[in-house]
Amino acid sequence: MRLQKFLAICGVASRRKAEEIIASGRVYVNGNKITEMGFSVNETIDVVTVDGEKLRPEENKRYIILNKPKGYITSMNDQFDRPDITALISDINERVYPVGRLDYDTEGLLLLTNDGEFANAVAHPKKNIDKVYIAKVKGFFDEEVADKLRAGVMIDGKMTAPAKVTVLKSEGNVSEVRVTIHEGRNRQVRKMFEAVSCRVSDLKRTAIGGFMLGNLPKGSWRDFTEAEMKLIDKYKK
Ligand code: URA
Repeated sequence: MRLQKFLAICGVASRRKAEEIIASGRVYVNGNKITEMGFSVNETIDVVTVDGEKLRPEENKRYIILNKPKGYITSMNDQFDRPDITALISDINERVYPVGRLDYDTEGLLLLTNDGEFANAVAHPKKNIDKVYIAKVKGFFDEEVADKLRAGVMIDGKMTAPAKVTVLKSEGNVSEVRVTIHEGRNRQVRKMFEAVSCRVSDLKRTAIGGFMLGNLPKGSWRDFTEAEMKLIDKYKK
């Protein structure tokens, strides 16, 4: 089995993220540092370590939804030492990792799992899975401005795909807007609003595909419901 697949199966990271971990020289096979991507391992004989920790394939698949508060980073080791989400999921035995990311200053729904195949499927751009955000926006905002977002705006030199945009509230210079996108570009929602001269003061993700945040309290997590467990295979297809 390829090394990056083995890392994903062991719940270290999604396959794509595992490639970065290998390239950074943190992975050893039988005591030898491996930075080569196609490296093959025999999972029953070879001893594979990441940061010195021996890996074993995860048996128990775990799927959770976390309501990430603002002020936490999604990745597990930050160069600036900011609080990361591991503090919020310390009571989970399995090594789950986030599916995609949310900015430090964005709150809301984050999926975490040790099922690399599910994580890859949900994060894959080709799947076009809708992500729903509620943005509190400062600046003039009306249906005409909303239409620009719906049609697509230029961010980082590339147009965004059409978005669904609903103005939920508008009072003076402050509006609450629901935006549904299926792309996942860096700080995409904030940049979309910047492109129409608005500033997002608060941003919350409320859904990814069929997975909803509902009324899960901020900073809490829950396992998938039975109905959500039934969606897993649908997304993997
Ligand atoms: N768009 C953003 O601007 N931030 C996020 O965290 C997610 C989407």
